[in-house]
Amino acid sequence: MSILAIDAGTTGVTAVVVSTEGHITAKGYQEFRQHFPRPGWVEHSAEEIWQATLEATREVLAQVDQSELTAIGITNQRETVVLWDRETLSSPRRAIVWQDRRTADICTRLRDEGHEQRVTELTGLRLDPYFSGTKLMWLAEHEPHTWALVQSGRYAVGTVDSYLIARMTRGTWHVTDVSNASRTLLLDLEAGEWSDELCSLFGVPRDALPDLVPNWGEVAPSDPAVFAGLSLPIAGIAGDQQSALFGQTCFAEGESKCTYGTGSFILTNTGTTVVRSEAGLLSTAAWRSPEGETTYALEGAIFVTGAAVQWLRDGLQIVGSAEETAAIAATVPDTDGVVFVPALTGLGAPHWDPHARGTILGITRGTTRAHLVRATLEAIAFEVRDVLETMPEAAAVRVDGGAAANDLLCQLQADQVGLPVERPKIVETTALGAAFLAGLGTGAWSSTDDLRETWALDRRFEPTGDREAHEASYRRWTAAVERAKGWAEV
Ligand code: G3P
Repeated sequence: MSILAIDAGTTGVTAVVVSTEGHITAKGYQEFRQHFPRPGWVEHSAEEIWQATLEATREVLAQVDQSELTAIGITNQRETVVLWDRETLSSPRRAIVWQDRRTADICTRLRDEGHEQRVTELTGLRLDPYFSGTKLMWLAEHEPHTWALVQSGRYAVGTVDSYLIARMTRGTWHVTDVSNASRTLLLDLEAGEWSDELCSLFGVPRDALPDLVPNWGEVAPSDPAVFAGLSLPIAGIAGDQQSALFGQTCFAEGESKCTYGTGSFILTNTGTTVVRSEAGLLSTAAWRSPEGETTYALEGAIFVTGAAVQWLRDGLQIVGSAEETAAIAATVPDTDGVVFVPALTGLGAPHWDPHARGTILGITRGTTRAHLVRATLEAIAFEVRDVLETMPEAAAVRVDGGAAANDLLCQLQADQVGLPVERPKIVETTALGAAFLAGLGTGAWSSTDDLRETWALDRRFEPTGDREAHEASYRRWTAAVERAKGWAEV
């Protein structure tokens, strides 16, 4: 008995097969294109996400005995908005990605009109271009012909999970889960329902939105004619960060994780109550059981961490791969005073400045690419520290995601936060979480206690070095962040 999990992330789709022992037995991956039509804008072709999903799935199926598969779990980049024709399933325009900053002015307008407090009260979020609501408002204002077909009921509106489920079921199902819904600015977080008040504020017809289903339990079968010959129940759905929280088995209140992906996201389970933060953290839904009990989380969302490494590779072309950054950075003992603030798409938690932009300070004639590469890894550790400073102190930090494999980053992280960093044996925790959800929903595991037993430590990184030197570099970082703020408005 095994589960197929699909992780439709920001830069690519990963498909894995997970055994009941909680091991990943096969893996497929397919990257898709990033579109940057204007500075600060980021779009994806929904069709390319679907094709990448098929590709990654075919790759993984070639490695396993398909008859062993019992269910499908889906996890996805959150907040990104997709429109599609309910009949043809084609999208009238590209998806607007969570990183896209085009709605900064709409956010300012809504704030000036006095809506922020009420929006935060209802959603646990804030008025920032990051979330789906203002992206939909932008579509209504700038592409009225397309929007008219949303209003007429022809086009469905959803996040990437809903879109993939629509594709896998040939348009029969239009559903999402509470973890994705809680990122749209349209969900009443405490009530756990779409809010008429918010739908009216953002001008989104409620009927265009997906129905809410529990995070685990059978939803619908995939259609073998369109989905790689597979007829399996889709039985687990979650936004990728909540999925990683589940995959790290953070089931108890107070347990938390940090995932290094395109961005980095630190989530702490707050149990069945919505905890509000005064320090720039988001209140969000983690998951809802089939019995209707909702678990919540506090989240620190950092927009650009792994994406900064990707920029070194694809933009500056000073590294050949993300994997080689640890070795390059290790050729120098420090950054020689160089600080890189990778605010490439503005700043998220805890600063929340959509007008901030990437900033490199302290360059001299002696600066080399090794200094810049090291400054990039340090920036990730600083950004995570910025968020952890606003959270209740934990005994250790549990990390996952692709960059968690980078030993130097884990060590820099431990040194910066002054706490041990724990890396599990499986760092593809996002996909693992989706498999756990689908397996829990179909009886492969009977309880979360069964899942806990599958978690295994790979390595623990203890804080090292001179505390005062770490504090001095953090002070330099904090000063550099102040200089990055507001740059797009200058
Ligand atoms: O909120 C955005 C997040 O869901 C994207 O995650 O892993 O694609 O960087 P990732």
